[in-house]
Amino acid sequence: MFAQENAIFGIVAPAVHKLRKDLLSPLFSRRAVLGLEPLMQSKVDKFCIRLSERYDKGKASNLFFGYASMAVDIINEFCYGRCPEGLEALSDDTFESPLVMSTRHSINWTLWVYREFWWIRELVVNLPERLVNLFTPSNTWTVVMMNSLENMVDDMLRNPSVCKESSHPTIFGRFLNCDVSGGQRLLLRETLIQEAMGFIMAGSIELSSALAYGTFHVLNDPKVHQRLIEELVVAFPDPNNAVSFEILERLPYLTIVSTSAVYSHLDEFVYPGSNQFRPERMAYMELYMAFANVFRRFDMTIHETTSGDFKWKEYFGPGFVGRPLHAFTKPRAEYRAGSH
Ligand code: HEM
Repeated sequence: MFAQENAIFGIVAPAVHKLRKDLLSPLFSRRAVLGLEPLMQSKVDKFCIRLSERYDKGKASNLFFGYASMAVDIINEFCYGRCPEGLEALSDDTFESPLVMSTRHSINWTLWVYREFWWIRELVVNLPERLVNLFTPSNTWTVVMMNSLENMVDDMLRNPSVCKESSHPTIFGRFLNCDVSGGQRLLLRETLIQEAMGFIMAGSIELSSALAYGTFHVLNDPKVHQRLIEELVVAFPDPNNAVSFEILERLPYLTIVSTSAVYSHLDEFVYPGSNQFRPERMAYMELYMAFANVFRRFDMTIHETTSGDFKWKEYFGPGFVGRPLHAFTKPRAEYRAGSH
């Protein structure tokens, strides 16, 4: 369905899946994820600067795309140690960068067809691009994403040492075996491209949906909003000096807000074990940090978005069908964006 047969997301054979999972597990231990905190905080800070700039222009922000921009830049840095050349999603305050638009538009009705009829997908991938674009205009975005990911993978294959230069271990560093002696390549180019596609989709779509959904419901209920702000003001007194995830994860109300945004992940039956490979652990850190910083730093009001905009269609994960969440993001008096 997602052209992920050889990537961790789609591998069916348990033995092969286990090998890939074992390769990545060290990057998803609690300790390793805590090591990503400076990276995440820097992206959250940048996102807050963009929200502030947008407000100064008198404009509402597209928070859904904004969260997606933050998530895309985080997952790219986690995968490659950098954002693809010229494709940093948080580079402007419209949040409509090519990677955000392409991840969002790749989730469409064609997935339903491909899920039921795998051979149609095989047919389509072999058709000329212009023909495919005719009946699915959003394919132009998928092509943008594929091209940039292919360039990224080729770049890393040409010069695998770049993944050693990052301040934290990277997913492609593991795939390219950079941090294991011998420097031997483990995966074929085509598999690496599938992994690149899988990680950018997995790392941005569910997360931005959860963040937008959670933000809307907090803002839409003044009592919930007030309670969250009260808790954050005590735990996070100066919004210019971020507090650590280890403090945030102990806040009871922030925990309720963050976990309510992704119900299924609360279920110990579905995600048992604290030492196993759980990408969602990283996602929790992003959720806590984004919610805490955005709510603490901005006095937000929903702009022309209603609960009806959160009606969703099932595309493996939920895809909202309405207008993406928009809000005016007024910086609180004590917050000076960019000062930290
Ligand atoms: C709120 C955010 C997220 C949600 C709700 C979510 C949800 C899911 C779900 C339901 C699955 C399928 C699990 C299964 O088949 O048992 C999954 C798998 C996966 N997710 Fe996420 N995810 C989120 C964030 C992320 C992030 C940030 C990453 C990347 C770092 C990621 C990478 C993956 C990968 C690689 C798999 C396949 C794991 C495997 O097959 O072993 N996800 N996710």
